[in-house]
Amino acid sequence: MSFILALDQGTTSSRALVFDHDGNVLGLAQKEFRQIFPQPGLVEHDAEEIWASQLGVVVEAIARAGITAADIAAIGITNQRETTVVWDRRTGRPIHHAIVWQDRRTAGECDRLRAKGLEPTFRTRTGLVLDPYFSGTKLAWLLDNVPGARARAEAGELAFGTVDSWLVWNLTGGERHLTDASNSSRTLLFNIHDGAWDPELLELLRIPPAILPEVVASSEVYGETAARFLAARIPICGIAGDQQAALFGQLCDRPGMVKNTYGTGCFMLMQTGERPVLSGRNLLTTVACRLGSRTEYALEGSVFVAGAAVQWLRDGLGIIRSSAEVETLAASVPDNGGVYLVPAFAGLGAPHWDPYARGALLGITRGTTAGHIARATLESIAFQTADLLEAMEADAATPLAELRVDGGATANNMLMQFQADLLGVPVVRPRVRETTALGAAYLAGLAAGYWRDRAEIGRLWQAEHTFEPAMDRGRAAELRSTWSRALERSQGWVQ
Ligand code: G3P
Repeated sequence: MSFILALDQGTTSSRALVFDHDGNVLGLAQKEFRQIFPQPGLVEHDAEEIWASQLGVVVEAIARAGITAADIAAIGITNQRETTVVWDRRTGRPIHHAIVWQDRRTAGECDRLRAKGLEPTFRTRTGLVLDPYFSGTKLAWLLDNVPGARARAEAGELAFGTVDSWLVWNLTGGERHLTDASNSSRTLLFNIHDGAWDPELLELLRIPPAILPEVVASSEVYGETAARFLAARIPICGIAGDQQAALFGQLCDRPGMVKNTYGTGCFMLMQTGERPVLSGRNLLTTVACRLGSRTEYALEGSVFVAGAAVQWLRDGLGIIRSSAEVETLAASVPDNGGVYLVPAFAGLGAPHWDPYARGALLGITRGTTAGHIARATLESIAFQTADLLEAMEADAATPLAELRVDGGATANNMLMQFQADLLGVPVVRPRVRETTALGAAYLAGLAAGYWRDRAEIGRLWQAEHTFEPAMDRGRAAELRSTWSRALERSQGWVQ
């Protein structure tokens, strides 16, 4: 018997999962790590802590599954995307904390590029918008602000990578410096049509090519784990950004199929096959995966704060002790009592793209309770998702048949029902909810010959529950229109 190990390196925790041939989870370990907030709007991670926590959970997950490293046929990696790491090729030490995708420090730089009329150039080549979300301006900031970094980068002494690159570099003992096409499509430096780094964009952002990783397919053998880490050397065979991995794990393999992942943020992706569809409504065009020479694309709507708003209720406001308590607290009131939370804590992502928006809590009266705030928090996740879906349906010019969902917050039945009610579309929760890790496992297992083909893994997907829309459409429209008014008030708050 052999198994697949998936490394799921997320924004707030590092996780490792052992899967069997039927896609069941045999062992899981998870470790949270430090979120560093040097100033409002800035978010950093210690890349060494990311690596240490990731390695720790790998060892733990293998032990929990009751197997040994020699039983693992392949490793797949999936990761928080866009987060930018730069390290010294010789020592392997990062030159600065990693700048996290939520970090807004390069908003001014994005404004400057836009003022020069460069938005269409970036948009048509990368499929992205000019927003501090993506890696390119973060990398430029590091080269400009860490003393000596630019000269060292030009001399080929430094390496840049998103978290997948950083993990592969460490796992292989510094032998491989690479990234897969789905992760590279989040950098503002990658031409999604040519499938390569774009020399002109590199010049515009002043990025020396010597710092970049090699771009590889999402499913192929990249190398083996270095001998010092585990009792056996395991091939590393799959990489995808976490949202693309979830799309793969949800078996959204036909154009028009859509998944939404409820994690720190909320990310909705529609598979568009081999055709990159450019959005007319501020969604992103992104590489879904590269399999051999075939590149698949997706339309994406990215919401920056979803589950993180529930964490804020726990850690910031202290009105719940654990995230799971939010459902009970929200159920203590019959409705939101007119309270709306706009969790624009890190600005707004799709379809608004406003790095200057900030959170807002509106409609509070003397009768407002913690229950209403909990309810408004859950509802904000569903409202943001509804805004994405509306834009996506308009871009694709076709109504959606169903929404496949995954991620921690999908355990929350109240949220899922409200989501179906708002959308007027069935919301389908799969049997295995670890679809992000599962997607990475599938990519690795396909390259290792553990699974034969996509048809074989397709047979493993099963729905666990379908939430049917039950709300009157007029009522849903009313709620959404009040939400839009709240949203407007949060925009352009800081300059
Ligand atoms: O683009 C950011 C995204 O990849 C983060 O995902 O699951 O860590 O919130 P997650």
